[in-house]
Amino acid sequence: MEQLLQQIEACKNEVAAFKAHTPDDVEAFRIKYLGTKGLVKSIMGEMKNVPNEQKKAFGQILNQFKAFVEAAFAQLQANNEANSQNETANFDWSLPGDTTLVGTRHPLSIVRNQIVSIFKKLGFAVAEGPEIEDDWHNFGAMNLPEDHPARDMQDTFYINQNPAWLLRTHTSSVQARVMENQKPPIRVICPGRVYRNETISARAHCFFHQIEGLYIDENVSFADLKQTLYFFVQEMFGKDVKVRFRPSYFPFTEPSAEMDISCLICGGDGCNVCKHTGWVEILGSGMVHPKVLENFGIDSTKYTGFAFGMGVERICQLKYRVNDLRLYSQNDVRFLKQFTGAL
Ligand code: PHE
Repeated sequence: MEQLLQQIEACKNEVAAFKAHTPDDVEAFRIKYLGTKGLVKSIMGEMKNVPNEQKKAFGQILNQFKAFVEAAFAQLQANNEANSQNETANFDWSLPGDTTLVGTRHPLSIVRNQIVSIFKKLGFAVAEGPEIEDDWHNFGAMNLPEDHPARDMQDTFYINQNPAWLLRTHTSSVQARVMENQKPPIRVICPGRVYRNETISARAHCFFHQIEGLYIDENVSFADLKQTLYFFVQEMFGKDVKVRFRPSYFPFTEPSAEMDISCLICGGDGCNVCKHTGWVEILGSGMVHPKVLENFGIDSTKYTGFAFGMGVERICQLKYRVNDLRLYSQNDVRFLKQFTGAL
């Protein structure tokens, strides 16, 4: 019996010293001590050799031993679970954290979204179209036939001469596609990137972004055009901003007008942005030329419409005082991270 007691004692020491680093170690412990061929079982099996008068005392020792091993196993299991749930158990919580850089929207996206949401309030739907266009949608349908001098107003990147494939110079091409596919009433805005062959400088770029609008229905008047654009300006820049319309020329509208707003930078006193006039031009507009309507089989004696087009960069410049167009496409994080608009 002495031998058995020694065996139990040795086994207890072993159990107490057991270290489990992985789930496999825990399982190895279970097999070695608590498995069907394990040590606890085999020691318990020794009961049959214990003389009757010692059975009671021995039974207690063995039960205690079994409970001891089981408790040790439960502890190993618990530690192991805690470790796997929290692999950072040995982590130094006093270390400073890594900085997570959260992206922000590009200023042009912020302003574009804002413009779109203002026109959505007035019931305008958003229409998009291809950036590579044919001559018809970009020019011909817009009352700019070949050799029309006004084509020079927009220096064009041609991809192919004959037939002409080009990078759209305005999103009027999308208006053309809408008129091609929809019957009046039509009320859309067309946001998108446009391209013109200009030397890149602070004030010009070979691509920029436009939002053009088109509204065709019965009895649409120039007063509707003015009120719509006036609403836009007030929503975009606030109630104090003044507007003025100047007569202008576009082949696709007649009459045509450009709209100025009082300079937001100097409040009308005169500065570089408004070239000391107190006014800045923000968009072109006009009543859709009857020829354009007829190009799409829209009866110009029944329907009238207005159209307008603005540059997103210009609106953004006025809103955020960005004075160099190149900043928009250089993607310098120091520039971009200043814009944290939620839109
Ligand atoms: N398409 C013109 C441009 O790109 C803008 C415009 C649109 C003017 C609609 C009048 C009416 O310059």
